[in-house]
Amino acid sequence: MTASKAAPRQGRKTFRYLNWLFNPFQQLEVPAIYDLLSTRAATERGLYLNLGYWQDAEDLDGASDALVDRLADAVRLAPGDELLDVGYGFADQDMRWAERYRPTRIIGLNLTRSQVEVARQRVAARGLSEQIDLRQGSATAMDLADESVDKVTALESAFHFRSREQFLREAFRVLRPGGRIAIADILPRPAQGNAWQRFKRKASWALVARKFAIPRDNAYPIPTYHAKLKLRGYEQIRVESIREQVYAPLHLWLRSHHSALQRLHPAARFAVKLALRRSPETVYAGLDYVLATAVKPMRLVR
Ligand SMILES: C[S@@+](CC[C@H](N)C(=O)[O-])C[C@H]1O[C@@H](n2cnc3c(N)ncnc32)[C@H](O)[C@@H]1O
Repeated sequence: MTASKAAPRQGRKTFRYLNWLFNPFQQLEVPAIYDLLSTRAATERGLYLNLGYWQDAEDLDGASDALVDRLADAVRLAPGDELLDVGYGFADQDMRWAERYRPTRIIGLNLTRSQVEVARQRVAARGLSEQIDLRQGSATAMDLADESVDKVTALESAFHFRSREQFLREAFRVLRPGGRIAIADILPRPAQGNAWQRFKRKASWALVARKFAIPRDNAYPIPTYHAKLKLRGYEQIRVESIREQVYAPLHLWLRSHHSALQRLHPAARFAVKLALRRSPETVYAGLDYVLATAVKPMRLVR
């Protein structure tokens, strides 16, 4: 592309970014958000789009890998499994799982076409196309047969689904009896404390929900999440908050590693820098981060 064509295109992209981030009336649908973010992820070695699990991590890539491993352990990923991974981004987690956990097959579903194309190229370049079958498709209307997979994962994507409940229904349908689901997910925290603390929680959730296309139907805290899994028929349900190992350590690491922000679009970098001036307790006041696991019963009791 010539420089004369590239400059206006860059300008339009910057405008779209600023409009999305700072215009309170502007909301985007999921594919438009991820088209805008494109491949400018903050990770250095991969293209992860998650916040990471920071317990023993030293950098963003390490934290993202650790979250991916935690989810694989939570779903008990093992050789021979057929895994469905929903909302796979650029498929970094699927490549890691294919190489380290050796499932027979991973099927990926992702709504964002631009990510599907890049992810397929990356998987092919790594020689993993036989094991990883990346599809464009929705978490809430899966083109998969009943009882066709052993495991289901959703890594930092289920909060987007319209709705998470419909995804839980679909996952239950495609899981084989005895199959397991594991979800790394973002939820609101219940409004608690004095008026200021309650306001901070509500405001931080409202901002994130609005900008990241989280439907109202998905805004409920841990006990409701648990109840919805139970209502759907799952058993051995566990919904554990891991927020202390996610938000604050990520925030503090970014504060001391501004070089990671260089990989973001300048408009995104500006917004993150503004957020980093505030305390993590304020920025993430209303956000929980959970790891949820459950099992489809061996025999359904009707
Ligand atoms: C925050 S990104 C996480 C990507 C990846 N799991 C990672 O950790 O890097 C959320 C992903 O969910 C996908 N997504 C959102 N809604 C979806 C839906 N209804 N069905 C399938 N994928 C969806 C987006 O396209 C995006 O790839």
